[in-house]
Amino acid sequence: MAHINENYLKLPGSYLFSEIARRVNVFKDENPEADIIRLGIGDVTKPLPEAVIKELHAAVDEMADASTFRGYGPEQGYDFLIEKIIEFDFAPHGVNLAIDEVFVSDGSKSDTANIQEIFGTDNVIAITDPVYPVYVDSNVMAGRSGTLGADGKWSDMVYIPCTAENGFVPQLPTEKVDLIYLCFPNNPTGTTISKEQLKIWVDFAKENQVIILYDAAYEAYITEADVPHSIYEIEGAKEVAIEFRSFSKNAGFTGTRCSYTVVPKECMGYTASGEAISLNGLWNRRQCTKFNGTPYIIQKGAEAVYTAAGQAQIKALIDYYMYNAKLIREGVKSTGIEVFGGVNAPYIWLKTPEGLDSWSFFDRLLNEVHIVGTPGAGFGPSGEGYFRLTAFGTKENTEEAIERFTKKFKL
Ligand code: MLT
Repeated sequence: MAHINENYLKLPGSYLFSEIARRVNVFKDENPEADIIRLGIGDVTKPLPEAVIKELHAAVDEMADASTFRGYGPEQGYDFLIEKIIEFDFAPHGVNLAIDEVFVSDGSKSDTANIQEIFGTDNVIAITDPVYPVYVDSNVMAGRSGTLGADGKWSDMVYIPCTAENGFVPQLPTEKVDLIYLCFPNNPTGTTISKEQLKIWVDFAKENQVIILYDAAYEAYITEADVPHSIYEIEGAKEVAIEFRSFSKNAGFTGTRCSYTVVPKECMGYTASGEAISLNGLWNRRQCTKFNGTPYIIQKGAEAVYTAAGQAQIKALIDYYMYNAKLIREGVKSTGIEVFGGVNAPYIWLKTPEGLDSWSFFDRLLNEVHIVGTPGAGFGPSGEGYFRLTAFGTKENTEEAIERFTKKFKL
């Protein structure tokens, strides 16, 4: 008899963004004339930069010619891309990495979900709350969750609330934890952490032999000076942190899929008997066994991000979305609703008005002004009473959405 992994049965309902899509489709069926503006899922709307498109075409042509055709590539990614990643994304911040510490992949969603495989199932997971649901759900699937309580919390996970009350800065856990997920600039709150605050976490991880899983997928949106671009800017972080980066949000690769994960060689996990083992070797083993590399064509496209034209074009994309972020932030604020984020991130996090819970506010926005956002409760118990809007819409849709929003909620 084929037994299933019963941990899957513990997962409530469907994945957050699938549930939102389902609700929107029901509404659309019932109201086919409604002009719905989607500011829910953080998916980009602008096409890939010209420099990327040009390189993608050239790489397709290479695949059509026997002398330049490529089959399986290195599971870790091609050196031509990794060299650029190190030169452009880390060296300017004073971070030196070796080629074999960077693993090119097909998305930070998959990597942040898969990384837990190289850790024991008895590890205690700490998450900031609210949080990107992939970190939680993938650990539930692996059997690290315990049971789901009426308060929306898994009994074996440690929740670190990040709310307006503590300025969205996570406080160190008081319980024993082994793995900590941190995401900065943060999804969903759009807030950030200073170097000094991040150093507290790195020092804690070093003292307690804890690993920080640092998701920096929104790094390109940082505008303020004291915000770290990489956790490795903090001294000693290479010993305790794995960092995830993506081409999705800076260069529009959400549908094209390219990302990378940094696993420094000095980053150690431990056997039950306390022997230190390099996580780099374990991740390499995992990737070689389960992954055959991001397609050559896609990696060539990603390489083009680092050309002079590519850099100018992604800057223009980021500026475009940050214009939207400012518009949303200021528009929402003008109604008297409390608003956070949107300065170093493409997400705007707002307090739901009139004491509405976040799903009721979702329904109200959809029904009354035909705007789709994401209910804070979908990101965890501390997200209740909050709501997320994304800046990844088109400028025209965002302007229209904010006009509708401010008209509806103006005090
Ligand atoms: C989100 O809306 O939170 C993003 O789409 C997450 C992701 O990139 O998967």
